[in-house]
Amino acid sequence: MKQTERANFGSKLGIILATAGSAVGLGNVWRFPYMTGQNGGAAFILIYFACVLILAIPCMISEFIIGRRGQANAVRSFEKIGGRGWKIIGVMGVITGFLICSFYSVVSGWCLEYIYASVAGQLEGNPDYVRTYYNAFVSSPWKPLLCLVVFLLMTHLIIVRGVERGIEKASKLMMPVLFVLLIGIVAASCMLPGASNGISYMFKPDWQSVSSGVFLSALGQAFFSLSLGMGCLVTYASYFNRQTDLTKASIQIALIDSLIAILAGLMIFPAAFAVGVSPDSGPSLVFITLPNVFREAFAAVPAVSYVVAIMFYALLTLAALTSLISLHEVCTSYLHEELHISRHRGAIIVTAICLVLGVLCSLSLGAYPEIQLFGMSLFDLFDYVTSQYLMPIGGFLTCLLLGWFVPKPISRDEFTNGGTLRGQFFTIYFFLVRYVCPIAILFIFLHQFGVL
Ligand code: TRP
Repeated sequence: MKQTERANFGSKLGIILATAGSAVGLGNVWRFPYMTGQNGGAAFILIYFACVLILAIPCMISEFIIGRRGQANAVRSFEKIGGRGWKIIGVMGVITGFLICSFYSVVSGWCLEYIYASVAGQLEGNPDYVRTYYNAFVSSPWKPLLCLVVFLLMTHLIIVRGVERGIEKASKLMMPVLFVLLIGIVAASCMLPGASNGISYMFKPDWQSVSSGVFLSALGQAFFSLSLGMGCLVTYASYFNRQTDLTKASIQIALIDSLIAILAGLMIFPAAFAVGVSPDSGPSLVFITLPNVFREAFAAVPAVSYVVAIMFYALLTLAALTSLISLHEVCTSYLHEELHISRHRGAIIVTAICLVLGVLCSLSLGAYPEIQLFGMSLFDLFDYVTSQYLMPIGGFLTCLLLGWFVPKPISRDEFTNGGTLRGQFFTIYFFLVRYVCPIAILFIFLHQFGVL
């Protein structure tokens, strides 16, 4: 009965696009290239794909199973399927949601600023100029904060309009356009003089450069990019209908997400090598490299460069928006359903908390570098703690729950939609979540801490 009371995504395509809209975002276009750059290039990418295929896809199917079975927010779904104790995964997820929302909305705000700067023609200049522009912007005491506030308010408005009208529509529109534009920019970037160094950086692995941290970074990036390990996809799956083929959906989403990440890499690295920006320059990589791509690659026709830059930042902003919505939704649906307050009020609380934390994150990067904890700026700390600890641990516990505690017939029933799908992959899936995922994630952790 519950199912009919709960909002649902409108159509099959809507389900895929909304979930892909959550997955595709700054994680692909901003975080993937800079993590690749900091972890040595091609070898990281290969380890990343291994993580997606072997660990992230089974985790995604597990989250779908829990959410569609639970028909509730993340915390309640975990409790329904596993019993009281397993609620903890959902609670951890909500906390993770607040932390990610905070730094995510800061970077989303940067995208807004870059739309404005492109419209005003302020990004035209040599690489040094673009770097100075970025540094001045990030360390300004008010500009990034203004962008952050505007962005959070946009998210807030969509969230209060509800699942179908807000989230689904936004995704349907922007995903295909983003894809086409990316391909165009990739082509332009790869034609820059000196671009081939960037291409080999991405595809020729140098195993010497693989340090022990690379594995956990790749795992964390896979979870971050696919929105895993914090109940986000549990929440979305609670809006799926009975006919959704969970395996197919997860493979399609992983494919779309990986494709966009690779395209983002192909857009950034050839250009970074061509204009002499170091690939390991961290969170600023995309923001310093891209304006140069637009300027140099389309130098013959400045009007094209102008339009492409604006469109790109606009689409990136939309991609960030659909992802931030999904993070916000985890926290909002929790407050709404568990604390019995209206959705509207729940959303206000979430937006307010993210605003405070986001402002602190933003200031910690620029105007007030003394906002530090454990020797890291608050921004870096939130990013680090969530993707290297909270999400992999969430994924690990989710696999334990489905592999060892939930009766097999229940997960088989969800996996095969009550026996209507053949489910020939169930055995593989079950083997992966029961043995491979928990052991591999544990192994990666022990490796990180030098135990193995
Ligand atoms: N996956 C998104 C991206 O790549 C970010 C995101 C949305 C996310 N929801 C999440 C990350 C849940 C972790 C958990 O940009």
